[in-house]
Amino acid sequence: MWTMRKKVLLSVLLAVSVSAYVEQLDDSFLETRTADDIWLIKFYAPWCSFCKQLDPVWHQVGSELKSLGSPVNVGKSDATASTGLAKEFRVRGYPAILMWKKDVKYNYSGPRTRDGILDFANRVGGPLVRSLSSPKLFQHAMSRHDIMIVYVGATSPLKGNFTSAAEELIVHTYFFSASRDVLPKVVSLPSLPAVVVFKDGTFFTFNEEVDGDLKLWITRERFPSFLKIDSYTLYAMGETGKLVLLALVDRGLSEEGLRFKRLVEKVSTDHRETYSRSFYFGFMDDSEYIKGLVMDDVIVPSFIVVNLSNDGYFLPPVAVETERHLLDFLDGVQEGSLETQGGNSITQRVRRFIYDAKTTLQPVFSQAPVLGFFLLGVPVCLTAVFCFLCLKKRPTVYEEDEDDDGDGVLLASSVQRRKKPTDKKSD
Ligand SMILES: *[C@@H]1O[C@H](CO)[C@@H](O)[C@H](O)[C@H]1NC(C)=O
Ligand SMILES: *[C@@H]1O[C@H](CO)[C@@H](O)[C@H](O)[C@H]1NC(C)=O
Repeated sequence: MWTMRKKVLLSVLLAVSVSAYVEQLDDSFLETRTADDIWLIKFYAPWCSFCKQLDPVWHQVGSELKSLGSPVNVGKSDATASTGLAKEFRVRGYPAILMWKKDVKYNYSGPRTRDGILDFANRVGGPLVRSLSSPKLFQHAMSRHDIMIVYVGATSPLKGNFTSAAEELIVHTYFFSASRDVLPKVVSLPSLPAVVVFKDGTFFTFNEEVDGDLKLWITRERFPSFLKIDSYTLYAMGETGKLVLLALVDRGLSEEGLRFKRLVEKVSTDHRETYSRSFYFGFMDDSEYIKGLVMDDVIVPSFIVVNLSNDGYFLPPVAVETERHLLDFLDGVQEGSLETQGGNSITQRVRRFIYDAKTTLQPVFSQAPVLGFFLLGVPVCLTAVFCFLCLKKRPTVYEEDEDDDGDGVLLASSVQRRKKPTDKKSD
């Protein structure tokens, strides 16, 4: 009897402590929340299977932040029941992960993993600009970050621009400030104040005359010039406006794959001056996203240059055996002598729609042909009618302002791009 009681008590205690990590939030939260609270909230729908998959991760995030003594509170909310809250956060897709800090809401669009979400929570939940007050702290930060954006100098109008850039871009990267004597002696700065980017084992400073707007410059430069790229990262790189040279490699990284990867890395470092203004470099060991872009199977290993601003891509005209071949390929892209393939014209979009429908429905078709026929046949007919009407009404090219895809995902920027990577592809 006694042990029975103890068991019950224990399970009650457990339930209490478990729920303490993640709070269930409803519409009343809008009134009870105080302005200084920082909240990380997952919005879900009861029928959404990706949301269910996220549950254990979300619990880990909650308990980890709690045990670290983080100021970030973790909550979750059923967006179909607490519609007022979901509306406030403009939730349109599930699961949506958002942070609310002061009056600003930040949308998380990275991989739905424990580490990815924790990094986001710590970065956005912490100070907007982190002050590095000693050379030791500076070195420590350098050893932990591939890329560092640092404001150097006293308060100035530039600092105002820096802080407002940080307010928006902290979702992507850390922002630091330091005084001149904290930086290593080798860092020569033409004048103060300055904004310096440290990456790829080197550094460069923001120059308003050449680089223009600070926020746009940070947006362009916020990735290391060579990196391992997953579909989330590639999607995010679209905002930089740069092209991306990719080595598509196999997961195990065969000898040949390794050679392709090394070649890209070598070009990115040896020819930084020539290409870093217009190119990022990297390798990808998951070709799903690229398959969707080229709408075909991709050869692995291989090289491809993608233009994420218009979903276009370039393939090397000859087999790339040497560094020279790769440089010729980049020059061809840059000079415009190579033709863009793909893109986001009306015909490409129709092709993409059909391709997406086909890849989604193929498994259905082979298992249930009749159902497959209806699922495929009905949208195809509707699209055909729709396209016919579109083309009839607007014979001229007028596609620029159209919404790319109505998949209802909250987008941080208005840059028009291909479909966001889905959770299917991330894990
Ligand atoms: C700083 O912000 C002001 C006001 O928004 C803007 O006009 C100016 O161009 C910005 N300067 C830089 C260097 O971004
Ligand atoms: C990439 O796409 C943008 C937007 O359509 C376009 O302006 C740019 O010229 C393209 N770059 C190349 C190298 O084709």
